[in-house]
Amino acid sequence: MARFAWAEHRLQPPPRVRSSWPSLLFLTALAGTAGAVPRATVRGLFPGGRGTVHVGPSPRGLASTAARRCADCHADIAAEWRASMHASSWSDPVFRTAYAVEPMAFCRNCHAPTHTGAVPAGLAADDGVSCEVCHVRGGHVLAASASTRAPHAMQVVAGLRSSAYCAGCHQFDFPGDAGRAGVRFDTHEPMQDTFAEWRDSAAGRDGTSCQDCHMPWVDGPGGARHRSHRFPGGRDLALLRSAVSVEVSTRREPAGTRVTFTVTSRALGHSFPTGDLFRRAELTASWDGDAASTVRAGLARSFADVPTSVPGATLTFVRRQVGDTRLPAAGLGAPVTVSVLLPGPPRAAPIRWSFDHLLMPTPLAASQGVGEPRNRLVVLTGAVVPPSPEGASP
Ligand code: HEC
Ligand code: HEC
Ligand code: HEC
Ligand code: HEC
Ligand code: HEC
Repeated sequence: MARFAWAEHRLQPPPRVRSSWPSLLFLTALAGTAGAVPRATVRGLFPGGRGTVHVGPSPRGLASTAARRCADCHADIAAEWRASMHASSWSDPVFRTAYAVEPMAFCRNCHAPTHTGAVPAGLAADDGVSCEVCHVRGGHVLAASASTRAPHAMQVVAGLRSSAYCAGCHQFDFPGDAGRAGVRFDTHEPMQDTFAEWRDSAAGRDGTSCQDCHMPWVDGPGGARHRSHRFPGGRDLALLRSAVSVEVSTRREPAGTRVTFTVTSRALGHSFPTGDLFRRAELTASWDGDAASTVRAGLARSFADVPTSVPGATLTFVRRQVGDTRLPAAGLGAPVTVSVLLPGPPRAAPIRWSFDHLLMPTPLAASQGVGEPRNRLVVLTGAVVPPSPEGASP
């Protein structure tokens, strides 16, 4: 299944994105005197899929801005980053499989942001979202606070602490379609909506940033604390477990045994799951783990390709979100209640349930050669003993 119903050759060349560092320097000058950098400008650091990231010349004091050079002095941070999805954003096999279906410049602009050619090689290929992508612009290392001991030129960008900074890559729309005569139609439909989900949540309202949850403070080897660069996400069991709690009840019905899940958001700063459009959560129930009896309910976004007629253009299809059954962020509405039916007569066995995180729907994963152990993480499990069948002795 293709991510888009349209191919790259139908896209207009992306609008030329001007290197964003001149305006950045202007605003960092302001930051020194007037506090936080305005959000819009922090977002301007990343073209959000519309172009490559231009880091500019090496800062004074650094011969190279390659991650392995930063690692010479920031070894602990570099080791965390190397184990993160940011470091493998281009080499990650799950991404590679999806990219093979639609090898668009749009994808490369975020997954290998400093690439220069059609097929990134060398550093961009190895390093993905690297130190320089996030920290280097126009001859300066950008940092949230000033440091006088650094051997390299620095600029303070207080906005590095803000969620708006992450939004530069974690909030974006489907790419537009190109009609006749160079007319471009934007879809204005979020492909990833994480920042907007966060902004409306309890975390967004009380100022708990992406960094607060995804860059926790950790101790370095010398005892100095820093923000972890491992960026735990959808593959981190401890983080996933912190997000939700699940209560389960059962009831006998004529057609079978009804299992009702009440899922409550806990330390969740956006929907569960968030991010990539194919992410999915599943609630499962079975008689004592018997695979043949397993029933499931999915929590996911759903999309449809809607035909749109534009005057003077050929018929185009525009991808629109038509449903969203995901668990909303903490602070947005009541707990989600989902029920499934285990059909047939009850068995003298416990009902086992699980709450799982999936990278993508099982059939899509199978078609892309991504096996269950990689695609599915069992987050929470439990067992309930259903009420004994009517008339049966206890
Ligand atoms: C030759 C050693 C060296 C290299 C190479 C180096 N740094 Fe640094 N960097 C330092 C030192 C020392 C500091 C000051 C640390 C302090 O103040 O505690 C620093 C400070 C920083 C800070 C600010 C830390 C703070 O406390 O706010 C950032 C961000 C940073 N470096 C990023 C980078 C990045 C990104 C690279 C690669 C492009 C890099 N550094 C390469 C030595 C180095
Ligand atoms: C996805 C973007 C991103 C990437 C990639 C990244 N950083 Fe950072 N880094 C940040 C942010 C955001 C902060 C500021 C966190 C804060 O102060 O709240 C930070 C903070 C730092 C600091 C200050 C130390 C501290 O107090 O936490 C250093 C030093 C640093 N980064 C070095 C590096 C190096 C070296 C690499 C590559 C190995 C790297 N960073 C990769 C986003 C990134
Ligand atoms: C230059 C673009 C860029 C920026 C800036 C950026 N990210 Fe990412 N981030 C990515 C990409 C691309 C991936 C996906 C890598 C993959 O799975 O292929 C990713 C992955 C992640 C993941 C892992 C998701 C998972 O499923 O495991 C987390 C968590 C994350 N980012 C948080 C952040 C936070 C917090 C910030 C801000 C401090 C940030 N990112 C800034 C591009 C970016
Ligand atoms: C209150 C804590 C909290 C805040 C704030 C928060 N997150 Fe998360 N994040 C989580 C938890 C818990 C998970 C795991 C559950 C999930 O996937 O939704 C997660 C998962 C993710 C994932 C992986 C999604 C997946 O299902 O694979 C990404 C990407 C991500 N967060 C990015 C962000 C960004 C960007 C922001 C800021 C706009 C942010 N987060 C703010 C707690 C938080
Ligand atoms: C504006 C930035 C951006 C663009 C453009 C973009 N991505 Fe991503 N992509 C991300 C971020 C951020 C994540 C992490 C979200 C998460 O983990 O759920 C991600 C995650 C993914 C994942 C999940 C990877 C994994 O390991 O599970 C796949 C697959 C993917 N992207 C494919 C693509 C393809 C194919 C394209 C082009 C058609 C594309 N992306 C364009 C930012 C982008």
